[in-house]
Amino acid sequence: MIKVGIVGASGYAGGELLRLLSTHPEVEVSAATSKHNAGDYVFKVHPNLKGFTNLKFTAETPSEVASRVDLLFLAVPHGSSVRITPGLVETGIKLIDMSADFRFRDSSKYPVWYGWEHPAPDLLAHFVYGLPELHREQIKNARLVSVPGCIASSSIYSLAPLAKSGFIQDPVVIDAKIGSSGSGNKASQATHFSERYNSVRIYSPSGHRHIGEIEQELSSVSGKPVTATMSAHSVNMVRGILTTSSVLTRDKLSEPDVWKAYRSMYRNEPFIRFMMDPTGLYRYPDPKVVVGSNFADLGFALDSHVDRVVAIGAIDNLIKGAAGNAVQCMNLMNGFPETEGLLAPPMRLI
Ligand SMILES: NC(=O)c1ccc[n+]([C@@H]2O[C@H](COP(=O)([O-])OP(=O)(O)OC[C@H]3O[C@@H](n4cnc5c(N)ncnc54)[C@H](OP(=O)(O)O)[C@@H]3O)[C@@H](O)[C@H]2O)c1
Repeated sequence: MIKVGIVGASGYAGGELLRLLSTHPEVEVSAATSKHNAGDYVFKVHPNLKGFTNLKFTAETPSEVASRVDLLFLAVPHGSSVRITPGLVETGIKLIDMSADFRFRDSSKYPVWYGWEHPAPDLLAHFVYGLPELHREQIKNARLVSVPGCIASSSIYSLAPLAKSGFIQDPVVIDAKIGSSGSGNKASQATHFSERYNSVRIYSPSGHRHIGEIEQELSSVSGKPVTATMSAHSVNMVRGILTTSSVLTRDKLSEPDVWKAYRSMYRNEPFIRFMMDPTGLYRYPDPKVVVGSNFADLGFALDSHVDRVVAIGAIDNLIKGAAGNAVQCMNLMNGFPETEGLLAPPMRLI
């Protein structure tokens, strides 16, 4: 049994961490911090947890929490984590950061994709990119893990087998659709119900910041530089991501060629499901049937007109795109069964 703390526990990702860990047999959540809710019961902010925890939020500093736990999750906004982390690293604590602040191996990517110079570039090499399906052995031995971005996760899961098999011709073109919880719990005009409801808003036609980590991971898996581009849309749902990626292929591929690429990479993966059904309503991945779970649903279609593979991924942005991957990494880092606390089937949102 280990003790863990969550900094930023009042947020959406923090709330999902609390939920997943509330029934995890190897973990006791000893601290949940929130500046604005200190002293309140956790279930006041996350009412779904009523009856599962009597923990109260505290206003402890991350270092104070680190001194009394074995592992710390940072579920704070990007740009905040990087100010907290250097001091925490010195304490020797195991750390899982949900933000973007330690996802790049190369510090020169921060000005490009986030618009700031990284203040602790030497630390980047000490973090492992927390995508278990790509970096399992490194995560097992890691003390510091950086959890991937949500749209990045869905994109990388669906594209990595094609990159690994050498099928990709630059650039990959990604279309992403995401629900409102992807923006966190702070309201803005863009997330206001009357502005968002019934809208399909293309909020990032180009230059989405997750492109940098997608390129990093696809290049690493293929062994040569891969470039990507993306248009991202906010759509009329609370949770979930659908990515539809166009890969123009070098050669004419058959369905068995593409199946082989996916199967050889994900054959034994506990959280990857293939949603490919030639008939019926759910012929391809759909966030509607994956939310609430740590599964990544994948599928593909061939477009013989232009020799294109359409690679499709659907995840719950707050689980496989955040808290679920973080718990999967925690399990690996501590020698727990990898699927512990994560095997509940998805909800069907009907
Ligand atoms: N939402 C997603 O789908 C998603 C997916 C993948 C990754 N992530 C990443 O996960 C992290 C958390 O995201 P979220 O959606 O949960 O955000 P959120 O709902 O806005 O919650 C963040 C929490 O962090 C606390 N906080 C804010 N500024 C802080 C600071 N400077 N220092 C310490 N705590 C601070 C806030 O609570 P108090 O002010 O009360 O302390 C807030 O409740 C972000 O880095 C995000 O990029 C989110």
